[in-house]
Amino acid sequence: MRKIYIFDTTLRDGEQSPGVNLNMQEKVEIALQLEKLGVDRMEAGFPAASPGDLAGVSAVARAVKNASVIALSRSREQDIEAAREALKDAQDPCLHLFLATSPIHRQHKLRMEKHQVLETAEAAIRYAKKYFSKIEFSPEDAGRTELDFLCEVTEMAIRAGATVVNIPDTVGYMTPYEYGNIFKTLKENVPGIEKIQLSAHCHDDLGMATANALAAILNGADQIEGTINGIGERAGNTSIEEVAMALETRQEFFQAKTTLTLSEIARTSRLVSKLTGMVVPGNKAIVGANAFAHESGIHQDGMLKEKTTYEIMSPETIGLKESKLVLGKHSGRHAFREKLVDLGYNLDDEHVNAAFAKFKDLADKKKNVTDEDIVALLEEKLIETPEVFSLETIQVSYGNQSTPTATVRIKLLDGGYLEEAAVGNGSVDAIYKAIDKATKEEVELDDYSIQSVTHGKDALGEVHVVLKQGDYAVLGRGVSTDILEASARAYVDAINRLIEKRKSPARSRDNVTLI
Ligand code: KIV
Ligand code: ZN
Repeated sequence: MRKIYIFDTTLRDGEQSPGVNLNMQEKVEIALQLEKLGVDRMEAGFPAASPGDLAGVSAVARAVKNASVIALSRSREQDIEAAREALKDAQDPCLHLFLATSPIHRQHKLRMEKHQVLETAEAAIRYAKKYFSKIEFSPEDAGRTELDFLCEVTEMAIRAGATVVNIPDTVGYMTPYEYGNIFKTLKENVPGIEKIQLSAHCHDDLGMATANALAAILNGADQIEGTINGIGERAGNTSIEEVAMALETRQEFFQAKTTLTLSEIARTSRLVSKLTGMVVPGNKAIVGANAFAHESGIHQDGMLKEKTTYEIMSPETIGLKESKLVLGKHSGRHAFREKLVDLGYNLDDEHVNAAFAKFKDLADKKKNVTDEDIVALLEEKLIETPEVFSLETIQVSYGNQSTPTATVRIKLLDGGYLEEAAVGNGSVDAIYKAIDKATKEEVELDDYSIQSVTHGKDALGEVHVVLKQGDYAVLGRGVSTDILEASARAYVDAINRLIEKRKSPARSRDNVTLI
């Protein structure tokens, strides 16, 4: 079995998803989970983009011990210097240099002739080689680059000292046949190709990112780049979990495998979804809520007789366990603690007590508390943001023929309280206006989404909001059996994050283009 290296770019290309903006703590949290998942390499960001990006990459570089940490850089000295600074504490640093090579990019974006592209990239790789032993070079938009020129670029990159050459299908234009053929052609024609690794980096604009990555593997790719849940620019990147499970499930066909700890897939997916606020569609392969659900009678009958009739992989493989122990209001601290350990949380006494109090609260409202409920409660406050404001109470008056009115009471850090009332177009609008009045924060609600954590009338509702204030965009989360309370919690959470963000280094990338 050939080993396929996994290069995760959730924290870089994934973070380029519209509306996603992870803070340093969140990046580290995801990086540590990616380390548990066992990715070989992880791209932590683009340090030259902003001081905040640089700080985020440094924090990941310091935290991660068992994966190579990578920083993205344009083919320019000042970018390489920023990456050097960001990666100075990494155990196994790697620089990812890129320069576009396709005729469209050469003509319209770079305004460079082929020879200038070659010279610029070569100079950057040679400069970087003084500081980095591991360098990946990406000819951006390789998919739409003339094949003979791509061979020339690859040969130059090898000569200059790149250790990995990546072939990005930047705009998700390739079909599996064409994309696979690029790898075959490079393998057959480029002198020295055996000295480096070839990598595949696909985007999903036509829904072919995973198929293209697999075609690359069949044609000799050593590494697959992708993101958890397939998040990323526009339609996203190759989903790492899809590639990993395709190789696992169809081993005899691909004759290749990853060394990922597959049982960490579900947890990683959940964490990325929570921290990015990007909800995983129910029908998403591998990690969607319905990926292992069987609805039709014929399928259910088949499953009961023999699982393999309709199940090509088991939910346990990706770490989804069937819950044997469902907790309720009579469950004690001991059973609760055992459940936490079973779910993979090792909390100290203080955090167990806080979580137990939340659980008891929920068990009063909900007969059976499932694993998903407990995870949602714990992860609502996964990243501890200092709570300048915390929601005490909300009171809403609503009737379909009257104007909704909300009153909120908010606790301050010094123990004081704020209380305000407001009317709105709907109950949530009234609550948000009352919170705005109380906190005196001028924010714009950029996104609002709600989903239920489990099924049934008493299910927990989970709300995500994105608030904007000037250059800043922040995500907030709230969980409750009541969707109005969850909405209020998410909004207050976002305001607390906004206040925290104003104190941290600038993250605006508006003036940085990927040229
Ligand atoms: O899609 C792309 O071309 C990229 C490069 C920066 C590798 O993400
Ligand atoms: Zn990309």
